[in-house]
Amino acid sequence: MLSIDLKGKKAFIAGIADDQGYGWAIAKALAEAGATILIGTWTPMMRIFTTALESGKLDESRTLSDGSLMQIAKIYPLDAAFDTPEDVPADILDNKRYKDAKGYTVKEVAEQVAKDYGSIDIFIHSLANGPEVQKPLLETSRKGYLAALSASSYSLISLLQQFGPVMNPGGAVLSLTFMASEKAVPGYGGGMSSAKAALESDTRMLAWEAGRKWQIRINTISAGGLRSRAAKAIGFIDKMLNYAYANSPLVKDLEAIEVGNTAAFLCSPLASAITGTIVYVDNGIHAMGIAMDSPAFALEEETSFTN
Ligand SMILES: NC(=O)c1ccc[n+]([C@@H]2O[C@H](COP(=O)([O-])OP(=O)(O)OC[C@H]3O[C@@H](n4cnc5c(N)ncnc54)[C@H](O)[C@@H]3O)[C@@H](O)[C@H]2O)c1
Repeated sequence: MLSIDLKGKKAFIAGIADDQGYGWAIAKALAEAGATILIGTWTPMMRIFTTALESGKLDESRTLSDGSLMQIAKIYPLDAAFDTPEDVPADILDNKRYKDAKGYTVKEVAEQVAKDYGSIDIFIHSLANGPEVQKPLLETSRKGYLAALSASSYSLISLLQQFGPVMNPGGAVLSLTFMASEKAVPGYGGGMSSAKAALESDTRMLAWEAGRKWQIRINTISAGGLRSRAAKAIGFIDKMLNYAYANSPLVKDLEAIEVGNTAAFLCSPLASAITGTIVYVDNGIHAMGIAMDSPAFALEEETSFTN
């Protein structure tokens, strides 16, 4: 029987701070396939996440199909907006959510992972941040735009620079993108659409460079909408979900685990020839050019394609 077998593989998932997002679902799918799970949690969310885990609050969603709890080998504080300790500004150093944390810059985390585990096989980039995401692009400041690109796109390059050398040949890197990179999605502002466009372009270039340099694969999943903490911060996620339900080729909710399962496949030897590509996991909404629930289609019954 063909199955996804990641036993003996070590996976680092950057961008988990609760059980609501894609990172968590990907971690679960990788754990189901037998991988060792390492997590990078945004430094200011570290205490909240570890407290939730320790209290057992996440046990239900942590449960795997065999009834066991997903084991997390180690959680590292990570701020992917900073490459080295010298990059961390004074106000962040003094911030109460960073003060007690140590070694959270990209370089330090990669060094610590190498020290703890020697090498890894899978790297998941499931993080994004756009401080002005609620502002239209036309009203976005230079600072906000560059912050979105820094945290959401350059972070992949920086993480790959540092983790590439500790990845085993045959390894896989995966990020998460959104179709606002290629089609206008009003409401996804602050330069986040630009950040996802950069992430997708970088996926192709990095696939070439890292493929040749380390024999690893780089792909990105263009995911449909999910009510994650990050998506709720954008503000229009419920409307997006309704829109997708009404207009996608597949009439069903999108489950985070569907993205998780695709991620497990893409990071497994079954996908050994897939690199530099965007895989859509969105019930097919990206394929639509028009919204079938538009009032324009309600005017004349015979224009309905739904039957
Ligand atoms: N939710 C959606 O509808 C949707 C759709 C398509 C793509 N995505 C993408 O999926 C990925 C995961 O997001 P999600 O929606 O599951 O939400 P999420 O809130 O679960 O994940 C985002 C994570 O990024 C972390 N983060 C933010 N800034 C960081 C930094 N500087 N360093 C390290 N971590 C940082 C946050 O703490 C959070 O854990 C993102 O790339 C997002 O753009 C989400």
